Amino acid sequence: MQIDYIAEKKLFVLATPNSTYAMAINGQGALGHVYWGKRVSRAADLFEPPPGFGGVSQQEYPGWGEYFFDEPALKIAFHDGTRDVRLRYASHDTVSHRESRELRILLKDSFYPLSVTLVYRLHPDCDVIDRHAVVTNEGADPMTIESVQSAAWYPPRDNTYRLSYQTGRWGKEYRPQEWTMGQGRAVLDTRRGTSGPDFTPFFWLDVNGKADEDNGQIWFGALHWSGNWKITIERNRDNQTRITGGVNDFDFSWVLRTRESFTTPVFSGAFTDAGFGAASRIWHDYQRAYLFRKEKANGLMPLIYNSWGTFQFDIDEKRMVQLAELAAGIGVELFVIDDGWFGRRINDKCSLGDWYPSPDRFPNGLNPLIDKVNSLGMDFGLWLEPEMVSPDSDLYRAHPDWVFRFQNRDCSQYRHQLVLNLARDDVKEFAFNTMHNLLRNHNIKYFKLDNNRYISEPGWACVDIPDQKSVWVKYYHNFYDIFERLTKAFPNVLFENCASGGGRVDFAMHRYFDRINRSDNQDPLDELFLHEGFTQANLPKLAGGGCHISKGMCGINGRSTPMRFQAHVGMLGSLAIGENLFQCNPAQLDELKGYAALYKEIRPVTHRGDFYRLISPREQPLAAFEYVSKDQNDAVLFVLGQSMQFRDVLPNIRLKGLRPETVYEVEGGKRMSGAGLMHIGIPVPLRGDFDSRVIRIRAVPEA
Ligand code: GLA
Repeated sequence: MQIDYIAEKKLFVLATPNSTYAMAINGQGALGHVYWGKRVSRAADLFEPPPGFGGVSQQEYPGWGEYFFDEPALKIAFHDGTRDVRLRYASHDTVSHRESRELRILLKDSFYPLSVTLVYRLHPDCDVIDRHAVVTNEGADPMTIESVQSAAWYPPRDNTYRLSYQTGRWGKEYRPQEWTMGQGRAVLDTRRGTSGPDFTPFFWLDVNGKADEDNGQIWFGALHWSGNWKITIERNRDNQTRITGGVNDFDFSWVLRTRESFTTPVFSGAFTDAGFGAASRIWHDYQRAYLFRKEKANGLMPLIYNSWGTFQFDIDEKRMVQLAELAAGIGVELFVIDDGWFGRRINDKCSLGDWYPSPDRFPNGLNPLIDKVNSLGMDFGLWLEPEMVSPDSDLYRAHPDWVFRFQNRDCSQYRHQLVLNLARDDVKEFAFNTMHNLLRNHNIKYFKLDNNRYISEPGWACVDIPDQKSVWVKYYHNFYDIFERLTKAFPNVLFENCASGGGRVDFAMHRYFDRINRSDNQDPLDELFLHEGFTQANLPKLAGGGCHISKGMCGINGRSTPMRFQAHVGMLGSLAIGENLFQCNPAQLDELKGYAALYKEIRPVTHRGDFYRLISPREQPLAAFEYVSKDQNDAVLFVLGQSMQFRDVLPNIRLKGLRPETVYEVEGGKRMSGAGLMHIGIPVPLRGDFDSRVIRIRAVPEA
């Protein structure tokens, strides 16, 4: 990684291992974009600015003002009514952090006391550039921010790009979509108060739709923001494509008073010329090295038992103790009590907010169960939904003013619950103290944060009217502050991100949460498709659930599938069992024991290795995924059948990411070189619907 400034050309050049990013100060003194794409090492090649560079339309961080008509990065109303931002270069410096290096470019408005610092952060051995902006009012009069985006990205002009993105809803997250961009503007966003699931805060652009898993140039990015966000992808009349993203400006404004600053979330961008598979691996490595908490980055995910899949709200100490005994017997490492342990919670109509153990079902508190779980050699985990309150709860009766509500209006309920206004500091402290006390007073090693409705009618009566639209952002400032403090205080607790499944999956959440309830849909057939989408931007080991092996959420489509298929699909990520163990016969318990052992054996490779999507379930009656250890000595191949028809011959499975000259042994005895496995491949016979194989492949000394 390298950051250079070539003074005589007023040119900034950022170099990552495979890409170059360049910008320069133009004739008006504004900062214009020059180049982003495949590595160009000779700086002199960047001296000739591209067409459009001198005008306002190719600014690194375009303010809404002057003769500019596209999506702005910054829109401000000054105190005197002027709504026109003109940013000019003032100075720059570079800062070294422990691992990364940062370029900071200071821009100032040509008249008003407004400054913007653009920050570009590079990391060693990584093609990701992290960008954000800091907007400061350096004067005495307030100014109102109407839109403040994190960054604008410019892939090379004139190309026709295909935009790939993801859409979804509950139970159907991360579905791939694409749009071939003519002149026009596409907006991906959320107004629900959570980062998903309708869209995910990611984009991928390739030229003419030519890129595939292994080939082709891709410009791609991800926003680190868990609330309302917006990514605008536009191709203007001059064939310039621009991607602008950050906090959603819908129903947003922020009054910046004297000497105050607004820091945007990070918007990461990266380039590869090796297709969508490489783009995914760039994100996966980046997450492990620079996003996740250090304590958990390379950790192995425990085998989980979760009560929800079978028992839902029907849990009590006695039955959970019996269940824990059975779970320990099959090799479970973490025993989780989901919803239903607190207050009077026997269904979803009450008690959110009353976070004390149910006096009827856990009359002695949680500790007797936790002690039992620990004595069986397992860790204990707990579910909580601290951002919510049931109208039928002691908390709501005590603090009806803590929820979002507009004056003279009722607030809509969903799942019989209301949203607490976390932007209030008293609510934030309540949520923090609730979780802190639970963690401090119990031996809890896993904490499942849930969030089961969106934010609507976001009234915040007790602040001045001009400040009320800041609530969407202040909510998340407080949310991050809570988890910053909790993860510091309890570094060994595994924090799980759940929002009705994958309703809030983004890179900001990845900083605090080590596992994701990837979807409430744990039908293993659907999960083949979820895995393909999820892994585009997210490390596979994050892909959790509560009950991969169970009849509960597995049965979302009313389809029954073999336990073996459920287990193999669950092992693609972080495996959890939710089966009713009371109803399993000894043979079934033994079968589960076998899956537990297999999961533990392969997870060092599946969690720490490189990930390859070999065959898409959208193209064949099966899916194939492969994980390769970083030293390329071990691989695990998953071949997962859907429905077989016409006695069709199945494709040979061609592996990826092996050393061509090394000889490998495929489980079962067959030996082949890496080149043979990658180019000729191996047949993997599947019989019948939902048949599956997990095959280990190991480097062997050549015989
Ligand atoms: C949500 C979660 C589930 C489960 C239930 C409990 O639906 O996604 O995993 O925790 O809430 O009410």
